Amino acid sequence: MDEGCSRIRRRVSVRKRNRRSLESVFAALTAAVLKPGDEEKEDEDEETVAGSRRRKTMDVQPVENIDSEEDMFGDYDSFAENSFLAQVDDLEQKYLQLPEHRKHATDHATEDLCSESIKHNTLSITAVGDYTELKIDEHTKNQSGHEDVSIDPEADVLYDIPSSQVLFFENLYSSSNDLGDPSTEERDWNSSSHKTVNEELPINNVEQPQQTDESSSKVRTSSDANRRKSLKDHLKNTMTGNAKAQTPVFSRTKQLKETLLSEEINVAKKTIESSLDDLGPFYSLPSKVRDLYVQFKGIEKLYEWQHACLTLNSVQERKNLIYSLPTSGGKTLVAEILMLQELLCRRKDVLMILPYVAIVQEKISGLSSFGVELGFFVEEYAGSKGKFPPIKRREKKSLYIATIEKGHSLVNSLIETERINSLGLVVVDELHMIGEGSRGAILEMTLAKILYTSKTTQIIGMSATLNNVEDLQEFLQAEYYTSQFRPVELKEYLKIKDTIYEVDSKAENGMTFSRLLNYKYSDTLKKMDPDHLIALVTEVIPNYSCLVFCPTKKNCENVAEMICKILSKEYLKHKEKEKHEVIKNLKNISNGNLCPVLKHTIPFGVAYHHGGLTGDERKLLEEAYSAGVLCLFTCTSTLAAGVNLPARRVILRAPYVAKEFLKKNQYKQMIGRAGRAGIDSTGESILILQEKDKQQVLELISRPLENCYSQLVQEFTKGIQTLFLSLIGLKIATNLGDIYHFMSGTFFGVQQKILLKERSLWEITVESLRYLTEKGLLQNDTILTEKGLLQKDTIHGSEEEFQYSFHITKLGRASFKGAIDLAYCDSLYRDLKKGLEGLVLESLLHLIYLTTPYDMASQCHPDWMIYFRQFSQLSPAEQNVAVLVGVSENFIGKKASGQAIRKKVDKNIVNRLYLSFVLYTLLKETNIWSVSEKFNMPRGYIQNLLSGAAAFSSCVLHFCEELEEFWVYRALLVELTKKLTYCVKAELIPLMEVTGVLEGRARQLYNAGYKSLMHLANANPEVLIKTIDHLSRRQAKQIVSSAKLLLHEKAEALQEEVEELLRLPSDFPGIVASSVEKA
Ligand SMILES: Nc1ncnc2c1ncn2[C@@H]1O[C@H](COP(=O)(O)OP(=O)(O)OP(=O)(O)O)[C@@H](O)[C@H]1O
Ligand SMILES: [Mg+2]
Repeated sequence: MDEGCSRIRRRVSVRKRNRRSLESVFAALTAAVLKPGDEEKEDEDEETVAGSRRRKTMDVQPVENIDSEEDMFGDYDSFAENSFLAQVDDLEQKYLQLPEHRKHATDHATEDLCSESIKHNTLSITAVGDYTELKIDEHTKNQSGHEDVSIDPEADVLYDIPSSQVLFFENLYSSSNDLGDPSTEERDWNSSSHKTVNEELPINNVEQPQQTDESSSKVRTSSDANRRKSLKDHLKNTMTGNAKAQTPVFSRTKQLKETLLSEEINVAKKTIESSLDDLGPFYSLPSKVRDLYVQFKGIEKLYEWQHACLTLNSVQERKNLIYSLPTSGGKTLVAEILMLQELLCRRKDVLMILPYVAIVQEKISGLSSFGVELGFFVEEYAGSKGKFPPIKRREKKSLYIATIEKGHSLVNSLIETERINSLGLVVVDELHMIGEGSRGAILEMTLAKILYTSKTTQIIGMSATLNNVEDLQEFLQAEYYTSQFRPVELKEYLKIKDTIYEVDSKAENGMTFSRLLNYKYSDTLKKMDPDHLIALVTEVIPNYSCLVFCPTKKNCENVAEMICKILSKEYLKHKEKEKHEVIKNLKNISNGNLCPVLKHTIPFGVAYHHGGLTGDERKLLEEAYSAGVLCLFTCTSTLAAGVNLPARRVILRAPYVAKEFLKKNQYKQMIGRAGRAGIDSTGESILILQEKDKQQVLELISRPLENCYSQLVQEFTKGIQTLFLSLIGLKIATNLGDIYHFMSGTFFGVQQKILLKERSLWEITVESLRYLTEKGLLQNDTILTEKGLLQKDTIHGSEEEFQYSFHITKLGRASFKGAIDLAYCDSLYRDLKKGLEGLVLESLLHLIYLTTPYDMASQCHPDWMIYFRQFSQLSPAEQNVAVLVGVSENFIGKKASGQAIRKKVDKNIVNRLYLSFVLYTLLKETNIWSVSEKFNMPRGYIQNLLSGAAAFSSCVLHFCEELEEFWVYRALLVELTKKLTYCVKAELIPLMEVTGVLEGRARQLYNAGYKSLMHLANANPEVLIKTIDHLSRRQAKQIVSSAKLLLHEKAEALQEEVEELLRLPSDFPGIVASSVEKA
């Protein structure tokens, strides 16, 4: 590998100094060879974050500088000018000195095999390639300064080097052999003689002058097996050969030129294809990655299982993989290392799919610093963020972090633009989600499409709660790895009355007596706290943290308040100042508003956490909890699958989630929050139950995790129909035979016999296609009689039927491009069409109505009094919108006054209009609190409505883009989507584009003078901490690196646009395609 580096260096210096004629011939190659140097330049700004560390690392290039091969080309100028014979003589003289030199290089090459200097050597030498003297100076300097350098190869070797590493390098060598790389033989020679050389080589050889040797290329091309025996033998043989040789001048020159030429090509190829110089000692990654894990995450060493998993043969062979470990087992790190390998070593893009927007944002913040440091893009695909298809990057690779829905759209867009192979790896966190409703169906579609269209994309899925792994393995054609490792032991308890039992699988009924609760309850207290919550939480708080899972949102708030009523006043004193700060900050981000429950509970270190909070509030509370300022959260089950907020003790207030009895998977996810790696030595969970539920709970704890089942057919309009539409729209499969074949490869295909016994896969396929055709979303190209399709439904289709082909209609394409739920595509089309007849543009109301999500409307229950009051306050033109969509003042008035209504009115339209009133008010006032009060709706709900509307607005935009008749909507919807996405004063929008900067933070930053993306990208985190209240160093760094990344991305996009503009069109008259390419 090191050989590869020196090779690149050497050729770079030749090209730069002497080879003008070749330069013009190899313009393209030159660009590629220059790449490392260019990259460095490009990274200069970014490097300010890395500071001196990176530079110091780059200086670690002592010995390679005097690599004998370097100078062989350094003399090329004189070689061309002087007599060749003289030159040959000279070369042969120099060749005499080669062995020592080569020995030396070999020695260090091997030493540095596992050093992070590998990459940087190349870069720095490239940069100084023009100046031999400088190079030597540098070298001398490095010689003396070598001990100061932080990387000690020995230490590197000792530190966690996987045995696979060695294997990896061996593989590299042998694969280059296979490719006929001229340098390969030299590598063999080096590696085989390494040991001897090491022993023989005196250290002071380092100081010998650099040597030139044209015969080294001979060594590489010779097939003399002796050279493998020993260095001396090799040298002897070659020298004798040289002495005898009577090489004609011309052929000799030609040979050298050819050698140079082929080496140039090889270098360019290598630089482009593999960037082997990026590889290093940390699981094939530069050791900088290891440093970053220590620096950013405090992870010093991998767990044994993580190492074992990363070095699995199947992982090395890039087979698909599912791995499953208990919660907090450290699954993420393994996935991250594999992702980095893909980005940095294989130089392919990576998609990571996570279940929720909040987790995507958390991950973006966590990984953007890695992106900045290691040179890849981290792109957010969540909410209304994400470009389809993604921007094609020239140099750096992209890590797309996406929600399930956005991940699906991204994959669709890559298939459509024939770029799916650019995706090297797809990682799915919480893989069990594949069994959960419409999102599960979407996840399944995404994975099935990748499997069908790209044979080179690796898929990795992880989860803590998988049972029927075999089905998933069959679907994903994946290997499986599992372990029971958990860094912190988790003890499970049950509480019945005042007795605590430990869950014990060996005991007869699954539990053994542990202890009695030691807390004196007065009669009044018993009434207030019949479940002894106070007794349980006070054993832990305030020094440790505690989560109390409650069945409903309301219950969370009640329990938090109840606990604080009983807690001793002593609790107020704990971190009093910090808690005061939290309250102050909550007010700051909410325009002075503060929830009365939180106002009461936060001084005790207690808060509720559920979907009713705004994003800003949730973030702030989570930060305070993570910092130990808050010690107790009462929360709903959503927190279990949400962000990483572990606790010393987790209490389940009841074995219910809403009204449903707890599922084993939910139970495992909730209790899994207990025990904080690196902080707690133990974690405990206590499930509170009543006597009546005892039997059911005992069954729950003893039974295995639930199986997960395909949702593809259960979710009719969001599953199989959407799938077929996109299969045909994207031309993944367009005839019946192919579509059926695709279906057989889905998760549903694997489970079909369990899931739908009464109907065959063939029947289901045929029926769905018929339905879509009838709906006008598909057209069949062959005449498809009902008879033809349905009569042979029980057997697999005949050859003739297999050929029935379909194409997508315009409406079908619009629906799938806009990701519109097929249940609503007719309504959307109708509403937009009606809008064309008389769109009221006096205000935003009509447009907002058109982009209010249909599914949210169906679950809404308007308050008729509020509805009426809001309606009355509208302008006549706005009231006209209501009339146009079919809701009269009379109707709302009657509803508000409780009168009966005879005329039938579409409830969905009425509800949808009500929600558009909410959104309209919100866009005008930009204050969630006042709107929440006005409409008597929880602020969290309003925020969800807003983000739902923003996402749907962008879907409607894509829908309209496909239908010419709706062209007029396009410009309007672009603006509306922006307004709905940010819903803040326009000046905050640029700041909020930065991941993790929500409204409150944006306002703080704006007020402190950071008014644009450029301001943020150039900010000093240390200054930010001082000027912005309640901003941790970690957050400040993340904001700055996210801003840098975004700025860089924008600049690059503009640059690409410029290039696109200046490019000669490929269909330019009179130009043959190939010559355009050359140009
Ligand atoms: N090798 C390690 N050394 C120390 N800490 C680690 C190591 N690996 C992971 N961690 C830490 O352990 C915690 C849990 O890890 P992670 O989030 O990956 O768990 P998980 O397996 O994904 O659990 P869940 O199923 O709950 O999502 C994190 O805070 C992570 O930083
Ligand atoms: Mg996880």
